[in-house]
Amino acid sequence: MPEATNPFIGIVPERKMTDAELLRALRLNLAAEEEAAHLYTAHADATDNELAKKVLLEIADEERVHKGEFQRLISILSKEEDAFLAEGAEEVNAMAAGREPSGTEEAKPAATAQRTIRTIGDLRESARRDS
Ligand SMILES: [Fe+2]
Repeated sequence: MPEATNPFIGIVPERKMTDAELLRALRLNLAAEEEAAHLYTAHADATDNELAKKVLLEIADEERVHKGEFQRLISILSKEEDAFLAEGAEEVNAMAAGREPSGTEEAKPAATAQRTIRTIGDLRESARRDS
């Protein structure tokens, strides 16, 4: 959103966007709608002015509609989008149902490795032992 001060952001000069560039731009638009909805909701939460709160929350809802429009357009333009979204939804559905999400076997080593990444505290302890 702060990038709105740059009128050329996202615009490729002297030519139209390729389909891949358009898809990336639409993903940025989708993120901007999410950010806008978050911002308006946060501002509504931060005021006791009832009129401002009502207007801000109504606009936040409109941004969610815009998110749906961008997401649908991305799904139409990206052949694999719906499959990725369905995979993510299924993983959460499995977790919500207390099942192991399918297709996560390959992800487990990375997740485990992430948990064993050394911290500053580990390094200090190690340095203390070595001295
Ligand atoms: Fe919007």
